[in-house]
Amino acid sequence: MLNGKLNINFVFHQPKLPTLIGVDIGSSSVKMVELSMVGKNSNIYRVEHYAIEPIPKDAMLDGNVVNLEAVSESLRCCWKRMETRLKTVALALPAAAVITKKITVPAGQKEDDLVFQVETEANRYIPFALDEANLDFQVVGPTPGNLEEVEVLIVASRKEKVEERVAVVLAAGLKAVVMDVEPYAAQAAFALIENLLPGGGKGQIVALIDIGATGININAMHNGQSVYMRNQPFGGDHLAQEIQSYFNLSPEEAEAAKRGDEPANNYTTRTLQPFREILALEVARALQFFFTSTQFTAINYILLAGECAIIPGLDETIAIRTQVGTLVANPFIGMELSSGVIPKQLSADAPSLLVACGLALRSFDPS
Ligand SMILES: Nc1ncnc2c1ncn2[C@@H]1O[C@H](COP(=O)(O)OP(=O)(O)OP(=O)(O)O)[C@@H](O)[C@H]1O
Ligand SMILES: [Mg+2]
Repeated sequence: MLNGKLNINFVFHQPKLPTLIGVDIGSSSVKMVELSMVGKNSNIYRVEHYAIEPIPKDAMLDGNVVNLEAVSESLRCCWKRMETRLKTVALALPAAAVITKKITVPAGQKEDDLVFQVETEANRYIPFALDEANLDFQVVGPTPGNLEEVEVLIVASRKEKVEERVAVVLAAGLKAVVMDVEPYAAQAAFALIENLLPGGGKGQIVALIDIGATGININAMHNGQSVYMRNQPFGGDHLAQEIQSYFNLSPEEAEAAKRGDEPANNYTTRTLQPFREILALEVARALQFFFTSTQFTAINYILLAGECAIIPGLDETIAIRTQVGTLVANPFIGMELSSGVIPKQLSADAPSLLVACGLALRSFDPS
């Protein structure tokens, strides 16, 4: 799709980008966000449009497009509700669809030499042929403690994973210009939130935890850099299944129950409370994995994202279970809103829009 030396399709090496709609294709819904910048280089953003549209059950499975027709129809409806004229979009692959590897190389290399080295390294780490891969890299910065070396992040994915998402978008009449990775996009949005933490989050470890329909994604960040990522296959769909079997409901009724129109009046105590506890346990487990696989011994903040983050009382349950201050992510704090955006609704939707917001921010990346 883009610039070419390494059949690069990911976000890192982009020429100047047009304004993009951030499009997050999740397993339960598609989310779109369009931002603009107020004044040139002001760093103040304005939410122009956003929309969320459900994706029919099983049309997306484990981050793969199973039913192209159905997913592109959801995209089309979502775009229509955006009431925008923009058709260029930034997409992301789920973390599970990419292989990432950090390597260290001598500092000050020419681009061509770096490209050669990245290809050689990628050949060693990617379990499929390079010509079946989309590959990109980014120089992260100097290796800590060694100014003669730099760290380079390599990202690779099977071509078909990229192509199926691009195809879905094309079928919806839109054009994919950027392919990102979900946790990196969330991280871009997190950078806006970080400033609001005490001390601007400097020197602290913040665990960004996205709880979606099918998975919990943990991204631990230290001074704006990811130091740990992990996915646990547990999410809101498990609650739907619980409700469905406990109350003998259809999947649709169970979903409606979860979102508040209770058909069974003891839903909250019977299923929601245990589900909150299970989620908190999963989060605590994820933190344990983090501590045992890194040199870090504490987490300063947990930031909850994904639509499950809005489950009433979940932040408190997690804070009690983990003994870590827990906040619900809202990347739109401090942004201006266009007249069509309802502030209260946006605050409620904000945690589920983190990835889409990060993708929309790619429009303003310095080239
Ligand atoms: N009020 C609510 N109470 C409980 N669960 C909710 C509520 N609102 C939404 N959910 C659940 O949140 C999940 C959707 O979250 P989200 O939109 O972040 O997931 P996704 O991005 O589509 O999926 P994934 O990231 O796993 O691919 C669904 O399982 C949904 O039922
Ligand atoms: Mg998601």
